[in-house]
Amino acid sequence: MKPVRVAIFASGTGSNAMALIKKAQELGSSSVEVVFVLSDMEQAGVLAKAQAQGVLTFLREKKKDRSTHEQDILFLLKEHRIDWVLLAGYMRLLSSSFLEKFSSWHQGQSQIINIHPSLLPAYPGVGSIERAFQDQVPESGVTLHWVDAGMDTGPHLRQEKVIRSKDDTLETWSEKIHALEHQMYTSFLEDLSRQKIKTAYFQETP
Ligand code: GRF
Repeated sequence: MKPVRVAIFASGTGSNAMALIKKAQELGSSSVEVVFVLSDMEQAGVLAKAQAQGVLTFLREKKKDRSTHEQDILFLLKEHRIDWVLLAGYMRLLSSSFLEKFSSWHQGQSQIINIHPSLLPAYPGVGSIERAFQDQVPESGVTLHWVDAGMDTGPHLRQEKVIRSKDDTLETWSEKIHALEHQMYTSFLEDLSRQKIKTAYFQETP
């Protein structure tokens, strides 16, 4: 089988992106490849970290309207024949037309995934870990989901729990959740590389 070509979109520090890059390197470029990391934020730590691992990076800030920005990104995805987009702390919503265009290159399959640090639909959006902690929830977790045009609203792919112990501080609680994110995302990547999750490979359409 052909290697699965992945692009990661991230706006921040990039711990999930780095976990994915390291896992892809471990799995080997004959099965999966992180082709590039894209960020919309110049100061995003993920850019330098990915470059240090030898991964191509692109900075695409939104300077004009949303549609121009997305066209620019679609151009990169097409040029690099990307099969899957993995969002890892990408702080922007993708429009329906962006999602439709990307699907049209993959036999209509939506191959864009996001990871979110809560048991969605609880605590969508930013600050999920902190909000759940403040609410003293007995458990929270991580959700891996298909991306739609809403804010963390796409269908769930996998969801796992983290139990809050009485000794947990916000710091230890956050660490547990982030560790689970890295584990779930890298295991998803491994499933892609082993074709346990089927890939509709990039195919150009008019
Ligand atoms: C993660 O918690 C992810 O779930 C959320 O944004 C955070 C990004 O963290 N969508 P990092 O940049 O991967 O460290």
